[in-house]
Amino acid sequence: MAIAKGSAPRAERRSRITYNPAVRAAECAVIRSRERSIMSTTRKVAVIVGSLRKESFNRKMAKAMIGLAPPSLKLEIVEIGQVPHYNQDFDADPPQEAKGFKGRIQQADAVLFVTPEYNRSVPGVLKNAIDVASPGAIGAFGANHHLRQSLVFLNVPAMPQPEAYLGGAAKMFSDTGAIISDDTREFVNKFLQAFSQWIEKNIASQHA
Ligand code: FNR
Repeated sequence: MAIAKGSAPRAERRSRITYNPAVRAAECAVIRSRERSIMSTTRKVAVIVGSLRKESFNRKMAKAMIGLAPPSLKLEIVEIGQVPHYNQDFDADPPQEAKGFKGRIQQADAVLFVTPEYNRSVPGVLKNAIDVASPGAIGAFGANHHLRQSLVFLNVPAMPQPEAYLGGAAKMFSDTGAIISDDTREFVNKFLQAFSQWIEKNIASQHA
């Protein structure tokens, strides 16, 4: 269940991890998909990782989330490293890589951002990906507050809560990339369940 900011029940608040902000992870977005049937039970989620670093903790978290996703969600990483810099001159005929990226976002029911914070904002590569995808493509999502600022302009519904911020990333993963702590796994599970329910609620409201 998506919980409105400031109104989380006591038990829900207790279950959230206290974070040390080494890594900020996980924000979500729903793409408008009026043509898509609301009968489908498995939603396609494009996962965008905000770090290009090979050993990125956020990428590890994204992969862990793919493994933990409930049957109602099919998570797939959509790479942003090759997305060209946005240039409005190319709106009429965008470069192939931009078209490919935008197409994958348009095909998704939702977008999940797993991103670090860079200088109190989102990494430039992530902002660029949003700029490239946004003209006519993105209908809804939610993110950290800076990200929300950009996205509100795009008229994109955002999951208000839960947001997920995970710290202590250097000790979070085993050598095989598994989340070591049962509590963290449980936290990520709860987040994905809430995201799944929020997607359904949003899609239903678009068809109401
Ligand atoms: C950071 N980092 C960081 N952390 C934070 O909590 N707030 C911040 O504003 C920043 N700013 C920042 C800027 C730049 C240029 C770098 C390289 C790093 C730390 C960052 O979140 C940390 O290194 C993460 O582990 C990076 O994510 P990946 O690459 O591990 O996924």
